[in-house]
Amino acid sequence: MQITTRKTGHSGTGHMKTLKHVSLEERCNRILRDMEGSLTARDRVGIQDFVLLDAYTSESAVLDNLRKRFNENLIYTYIGTLLVSVNPYKELGIYTKKQMDIYMGVNFFELPPHIYALADNVYRTMLTETNNHFILISGESGAGKTEASKKILQFYAVSCPSTKLLDNVRDRLLLSNPVLEAFGNAKTLKNDNSSRFGKYMDIQFDHMGGAVGGHILSYLLEKSRVVHQNHGERSFHIFYQLVEGGEEDLLRWLGLERNCQRYSYLVQGECAKVSSVNDKSDWKTVRKALSVIEFSESNIESLFAIIASVLHLGNVTFVADSQGYATLNNSPEIHWLSKLLGIPAQVIQVGLTHRKIEARSEEVLSPFTVDQAVYAKDALAKAIYGRTFTWLVNELNESLANKDSSRKTVIGLLDIYGFEVFSVNSFEQFCINYCNEKLQQLFIQLTLKSEQEEYEMEGIEWESVPYFNNKIICDLVEEKFKGIISVLDEECLRPGEATDMTFLEKLEEKMGGHPHFVTHKLADQKTRKTLERGDFRLLHYAGEVTYSVVGFLDKNNDLLYRNIKEVMRQSKNAIVKHCFPSTEPDSKKRPETVATQFKSSLVGLTEILMSKEPWYVRCMKPNEGKQPGLFDDVLVRHQVKYLGLMEHLRVRRAGFAYRRRYEIFLQRYKPLCPDTWPNWKGTAAEGVECLVKHLGYKPDEYKMGRTKIFIRHPRTLFATEDAFEVCKHELATRIQAKYKGYRVKGDYMRQRQAATKIETCWRGMKARREREKRAWAVKVIKRFIKGFMTRNQPACVDNTEYLAFVRQNYLTRLKENLPKTVVDKNTWLTPPPIMQEASQMLRKLYTRHMVRRYVQGIMTERKAQLQIKGLTSSIFKGTKENYPHSVGIPFVDTRISEEDIHIKVYQMIRQERIKYSVPVVKYDRNGFRPRFRQLIYTGSAAYLVEEAKIKQRVEFNNLKGVSVSTLSDNFLILHVQCEDIKQKGDLVLQCDYLFEALTKLCLVANKHNFIKVVQGSVKFDIQPGREGFVDFKSGQETMIYRAKNGHLMVESTRTKSRAMIQN
Ligand SMILES: Nc1ncnc2c1ncn2[C@@H]1O[C@H](COP(=O)(O)OP(=O)(O)OP(=O)(O)O)[C@@H](O)[C@H]1O
Ligand SMILES: [Mg+2]
Repeated sequence: MQITTRKTGHSGTGHMKTLKHVSLEERCNRILRDMEGSLTARDRVGIQDFVLLDAYTSESAVLDNLRKRFNENLIYTYIGTLLVSVNPYKELGIYTKKQMDIYMGVNFFELPPHIYALADNVYRTMLTETNNHFILISGESGAGKTEASKKILQFYAVSCPSTKLLDNVRDRLLLSNPVLEAFGNAKTLKNDNSSRFGKYMDIQFDHMGGAVGGHILSYLLEKSRVVHQNHGERSFHIFYQLVEGGEEDLLRWLGLERNCQRYSYLVQGECAKVSSVNDKSDWKTVRKALSVIEFSESNIESLFAIIASVLHLGNVTFVADSQGYATLNNSPEIHWLSKLLGIPAQVIQVGLTHRKIEARSEEVLSPFTVDQAVYAKDALAKAIYGRTFTWLVNELNESLANKDSSRKTVIGLLDIYGFEVFSVNSFEQFCINYCNEKLQQLFIQLTLKSEQEEYEMEGIEWESVPYFNNKIICDLVEEKFKGIISVLDEECLRPGEATDMTFLEKLEEKMGGHPHFVTHKLADQKTRKTLERGDFRLLHYAGEVTYSVVGFLDKNNDLLYRNIKEVMRQSKNAIVKHCFPSTEPDSKKRPETVATQFKSSLVGLTEILMSKEPWYVRCMKPNEGKQPGLFDDVLVRHQVKYLGLMEHLRVRRAGFAYRRRYEIFLQRYKPLCPDTWPNWKGTAAEGVECLVKHLGYKPDEYKMGRTKIFIRHPRTLFATEDAFEVCKHELATRIQAKYKGYRVKGDYMRQRQAATKIETCWRGMKARREREKRAWAVKVIKRFIKGFMTRNQPACVDNTEYLAFVRQNYLTRLKENLPKTVVDKNTWLTPPPIMQEASQMLRKLYTRHMVRRYVQGIMTERKAQLQIKGLTSSIFKGTKENYPHSVGIPFVDTRISEEDIHIKVYQMIRQERIKYSVPVVKYDRNGFRPRFRQLIYTGSAAYLVEEAKIKQRVEFNNLKGVSVSTLSDNFLILHVQCEDIKQKGDLVLQCDYLFEALTKLCLVANKHNFIKVVQGSVKFDIQPGREGFVDFKSGQETMIYRAKNGHLMVESTRTKSRAMIQN
C-alpha cells in the first residue's frame, strides 16, 4: 500500500495540537451536522449502536439490525465503544485517505461507526491520558481480523506525525505484516489467507504521538500444517512463494525445482494453486520487506535454506530393512539437507532413523520402524519450522525495537483466533476455545471494572449486573492439579500406557459432576445420544463444544527425540543453530507440554492486557462462501452468540443505556427547553437538570453523574431525539428568518450608507460647479459692465468682448428680424452705434439679395407684366395720386372676353386683331351723361363700342394724347385729331382699370409719352373749334357732376398715405 502521511514536525507542534488546530472549525461543523449520528440515522439504516436497541436482550433484534445495515453496505456497528464488523467480502471504498482524514480527531459518536473511529479514539485517549491500550480483534476464521488489524495499522501510519526516523519505523511496522503472513498464514477452507497463529503486536508511541517502535508476540503456530494439510488447503504461503517466485539462481542453490507438485509437503491438500493468491508477486513483497526490515543477507540465505530443507525433508522416504527397521538410501534429499543445514549426511541419516534411549547409565541408539521414522521426520520438520517462526518473530522484534529508554505508551493489537466449532473438534480447537474463554474472562473483568469505575467516578450507585461469569469454565480448563490441562499433562507424563482414552477416563473421574463438563458416560440419557464414546463436551460461555480426544496426548507432547535435537545442534546454519541451542533442557527433564506452554503464554498475555485499557473489535463473516452481499442468518446468529455479543450488550446495558457529558447533551438538546435556549448561563449540569425536568424525565429514568447524564432506557433518549428533530425544523425556520432579516437589514444599511455617500458627493460636486459658475458669471458680468462703460471708447481690452457680444447679439437678432419683402422698408433693426456702418451695408446687401432672389424667382410672363408695370410706373409714379394703389393689382391681358364683345363688332374689327378691351363709362361731350361702353384696342385703333355699334373709332395715328388728373379719380381724356366738324371730338372716359388701360394703350399705340398728368382741369374738344372742360379736385367723397360753369366736375377722395404715393 502506498502510504502518504500528514507531515507535522515531530517537535514543537505535535499531533494533538495539529488535530486541534487544523480541524477545530470543521469539527464544530461536523458536530452540528453529525453529532450523535447514531441517533439521527437510526431509521433508515438500523441503529448504529446496539446499546440503543430497545430489545437488547433479543438475539433476533440484534441480528435484524446487523442485516439491515449489512444490506446497506454498513459493515460496522457499535456496542458502546465495541466495534462489530461484518466482512463485506468486497471493496467498499471506505478505507481511503479521505476517509482517514474525516475520522482523524473527531469524537467517537460524531460520525458513523468505523474502524478508523475506534483507532482514532484509542490513539487520542492514549495521548491525553498517557496510558496503554489494546484492541482485541476476535472472530472466526475469515471474519476479517487480520484485515481489521491492518486497517488500524495503516490508519496510524497515515495519522501519526511523520519524520524520517519515524517513517522508517512506520515502514518496518507495516512490512512486518507481509513477512509474518508469508510464514504464518496459509490457505484454508475458510480463508485464503488464514492466520495460523495468534498475534499480539504492540505499537509504541512517544509522548508526541509518534510511532517509535513495536513488539510482536505470537501464539500457538499451527505447525502441524507443515507436514499435513486437509483437502483443499495449503501449507504456509512461504513455501509456495519460494518455489513459484524464487530466482533461478536461488532455487539452484537450494536444490529446488520450480514445481510445487514435486514436494510431498506441499501437495497434501492437492491445492498448490490458489486463484486469489499471487505467490510470485507476494514473493517479491516478502523479499523487499526482508531487506527493509534489515535482515542480513546471510540470515536471509539461512532462512531460505531452512524452508528448502523442510521441503527436502518432506521428500525423504524410508524403506524397511530385513528386520523391519527404517533405512535411508543415500538419497539426494539427504545430500541437500546436509548441504543446506551444514550437517554431515551421515549424521542426518542416523538421526532420522534412530532414537537414543537410556539403558541404565548408557545411551544406546535404537533403530526406528518406518512409521516411527516418518513420525520423527515430520516432528523434525514441524520443529524446525516452528522454531524458525519463533526466530523470525524475534528478529522482527529486534528490528522494531526502540532502544530509546524514554517513556512510551503502547497500543496493542491482538489478532487472535476466535471461538471455533467444527463437526470434529480436536486439541487445536480446545486450545483456541480455551484462549477465547480466557479473553472473555478478561473482557468481563475489564468491562465490569470500567463500568464500575465510571459509576464510581460519576458518583452513581453501582447496581449489580446480572451476567454470566465464565470463570468457572476457565478454572475447569486451567486450574492447577484439577483442570483439564493438568490431567492431560499428567497423562502425557506418567509412565505406562497412557492413551487418549485413558485421558478421557481420568477426566471423567476428576470432572464428573462439573456443570460445564459432560461425556458420554456422564451424560444423561438424552445428551448421551449426541456424544461419541471418545468425546467430551464443554459448555463454554459461548455455547457447547464437543471435543474428540483423539490425538490429544500426541499433540500435547509434541515429541521431538533428543538425538535429533542434538543433530540439529551441529548445524552450520546460523538460524538452526540458534533454534536448537545447546542450553536446551536435556532429556532428563521433560519439556513443557504444548497445552501448558499455551496456558502460560495466555497467562502472560492476560497480564499484558490487564494492565491496559481494552477496546474490542468483533469480526463476523456473513456467509461461508466468501460471497459479497449474502447474509446467512444462521451463521451470523451463531457468531453473535459465540462472539459473546449478547453478553457484552447485557453488561453494557446493565445500568444505563446512554451516557453523555453534560456539555454535549446540553449543546444538542438545549433548544427543547425555553430556559436553556439559546444560551444557558449556569453550569452544564444545571442546564441538563433544568432541561430534563422540562422534558418530564421520571426520576428513575435518568441519573445525574459528576460529569455525565445517565439515561436508563433508549426510548427516553429517542423521545428526546424525536422532539429535537421536530424542534430543529422550527428552529431552523426561526434562525433562517432572523438571519434573512439580519442580512436584509445589513444590505439596507449598506445601501443607505452608499446612497448618502453618493448624495453627499453629488451635492458637493453640484455646489462646486455652482460656485465655479457663479465666479465665472461674476467675472463675465464685471467684464460686461466694464465693456458697457467703455463701449464708446476705441477698441481696447476692456471692451472688445463686450463689443463682440453686442455685435453678435445684434447680428443674431437681426437674423431673426429681417424684412420679408423688398417693399417692406420699415423692418430693419436699429443698430448699435458701432454697427451703424455695417448695418447700412448689410441692409443694402440684404435688399439686393432679396431683389435678386425675387428677380430670379419670377416667371417670363410675370416679368413681361412687370415690365409693363415698370412702364406704368415711369408714367405715373409720383404724378397721379392713386397710382400706388394700382401697383399691387396685377394687369391682365384683357378685361372683356371675346364672347362678351358683340359678334357684329367682333367681325368688323377682327382683322385688326383685338389687343385689349375694358369696360369704360363714357361721358357725353354735351351734357356729360355717363354711358357704359366697351373700349377695345386693336393693332391700329381704339374703338368705343356700344353693344353692336361701334360708336367711335380712333386711329392711333389720330390720337394726339391722353390726359389724366393728378388726383385719385379714374378719368382719362383721349385727345383725338379732328379734321372736320362731323367727326366726333375727344373722349371723356372713366375706367376702373385706368392705369392698365392707359399702359396697354401706350404699348398698343406704341406711343410712350403722349400721356399727360394734368393738375386742376383738362381742356378737351367737343368738336373742332368747340371746347369743353373737365375739372378735377379732391373732396370728401367721390362725385361727378356738371358744374355750374358747364364743366364736368370730378371730385375724388384723397388717398390716405402720401408717403406711400411718393414711394
Ligand atoms: N473490511 C473488509 N473489506 C473487504 N474485504 C474484507 C474485509 N475484511 C476481510 N475481508 C476479506 O476477507 C478475507 C479474510 O479476512 P482476514 O484474513 O482478515 O480474516 P481473519 O479473520 O484474519 O481470518 P483468520 O482467522 O483465518 O486469519 C480477506 O482476505 C478479505 O478478502
Ligand atoms: Mg487472520
